Amino acid sequence: MNQKELTAILQKELEGKQDIAGRGVWTVDHCIRVSHLVLKLRKAVGASAKLDSLLFVAGLFHDVSHDSVNHQNHGAAGAVRMKQLLAGKVNPKLLNQAAAIVAVHDDRRPDDGRDIATHLVQDADMLDHFGTLRIWADFGFATHHDLHMTETLEFLRQEQKMRVRYKSLLHFAVSQQELESRLDFEAMFLKRADKECRDMSGGELV
Ligand SMILES: [Fe+2]
Ligand SMILES: [Fe+2]
Repeated sequence: MNQKELTAILQKELEGKQDIAGRGVWTVDHCIRVSHLVLKLRKAVGASAKLDSLLFVAGLFHDVSHDSVNHQNHGAAGAVRMKQLLAGKVNPKLLNQAAAIVAVHDDRRPDDGRDIATHLVQDADMLDHFGTLRIWADFGFATHHDLHMTETLEFLRQEQKMRVRYKSLLHFAVSQQELESRLDFEAMFLKRADKECRDMSGGELV
């Protein structure tokens, strides 16, 4: 089964579902992005290309149950659900390995002794929450929950303070560099947004 066919299974499964923030298509898009980002990370860390099928399946289905159970259980539930969806369609050994990754993907501890495939999926998953994607998601959330733009900007500002903590949860130097780059972009966006939205004291234009 190729990447396109696997993606179609995920899309069909998640069609019409929404997470608690009301972001229906967020999970679908996130899973698809993670399935590709994890392959880029694999290449960047110089790991074997033999991991690619496993990484793609685990990345693609890692949040398959994100919107149907409570957050705490979504890894375990996702492992069960992906086995149901992919039984007979994916090599059974690979499916078991991918399901094992999905089960623990949200349990991030730097020195957990887990394998490289699990760490790559965890890093790709986390990175997809930063940069333009976070800005898009946070503004979408704000619209849905009737928040002011200044409230969203404040949230982004507080998140900048978590830089060291987030970095410590990533497993590879390339992931940390990517995080820095995405957070730097958010900081740049904030600066510009402050100029346009907060600085009402007159003076210069942007
Ligand atoms: Fe997740
Ligand atoms: Fe995720």
